[in-house]
Amino acid sequence: MAQLQVQLNRLTLRNPIMVASGTFGYAREMAAFVDFSKLGGIVPKTVTGEPRIGNPPPRTVETTSGMLNSIGLDNDGIDTFIEKHVPYFAGLNTSLIANIAGRTVADFASMAGKLANLEGIAALELNISCPNVSGGVDFGTNPESARDVVKAVREACPFPVIAKLTPNVTDITKIAAAAAEGGADAVSCVNTFQGMAIDWRKRKPILGNILGGLSGPAIKPLALRCVYQVAKAVEIPVIGIGGIATIDDVLEFLVAGASAVQIGTANFYNPGVSVKLVEQLNEALDAEGCKSVTEIIGTAQQ
Ligand code: FUM
Repeated sequence: MAQLQVQLNRLTLRNPIMVASGTFGYAREMAAFVDFSKLGGIVPKTVTGEPRIGNPPPRTVETTSGMLNSIGLDNDGIDTFIEKHVPYFAGLNTSLIANIAGRTVADFASMAGKLANLEGIAALELNISCPNVSGGVDFGTNPESARDVVKAVREACPFPVIAKLTPNVTDITKIAAAAAEGGADAVSCVNTFQGMAIDWRKRKPILGNILGGLSGPAIKPLALRCVYQVAKAVEIPVIGIGGIATIDDVLEFLVAGASAVQIGTANFYNPGVSVKLVEQLNEALDAEGCKSVTEIIGTAQQ
């Protein structure tokens, strides 16, 4: 059996297969379907400083080989998160990476400060890339803002910090480099691609918020490109996200330069897929004669 452990700077994962924010609830909802101890990590739904009711319905729509969502960061806020969910996380046998979003740098820092030293959290993922709320992508589209927010969070808490990047920029490598400069331990590549769906018969956009974020297999080649470019541009580890559903998808992202991956949309139709992928990763690495998953990371040739 190959060694599956990966090191993302200060964050150690038992294996490189994680589940992505917004696709796995707050973990508790998935306990009947998934053995958490088999996963590399869990990223629960984004939490904000104050409760949010989210965007008007419809909030999701299926598209060719993918889905659009515009949830609008619906959540109960950080205080409820700490009271209701963090104690549950503390009992889980996997790395729990809390995902936070703020309106300002101070907001991010204040949330990080509230979470600092709480048992049950292994790292923070900063959502600087939500396309569905006003200001959601602002930190992720400007290198200085990305650097500042990462730096502020690093100063506010002892956790490893991961910046989740948006692909909705001209050059994602510049944002990744800025996050690294701010002290990010890793970057997650990528959040959803902004898109829309129209019901032409009604002459109306389908989503209540008109625009949404596209995910699923439809975006895989686009996300793979981002991972490949970012992994070449920065020294910090990259977490690949975008339409990953099969073991070949996982291996493509690892070979492109991802040190770990997050499974997102596939959880909606197959909640057990991530555990299956861990098993299949072991088999695939054995078949390749690899003693460790690290032997395959970033091995794509020119
Ligand atoms: O609308 C949402 O809650 C999506 C969040 C995200 O893509 O980060």
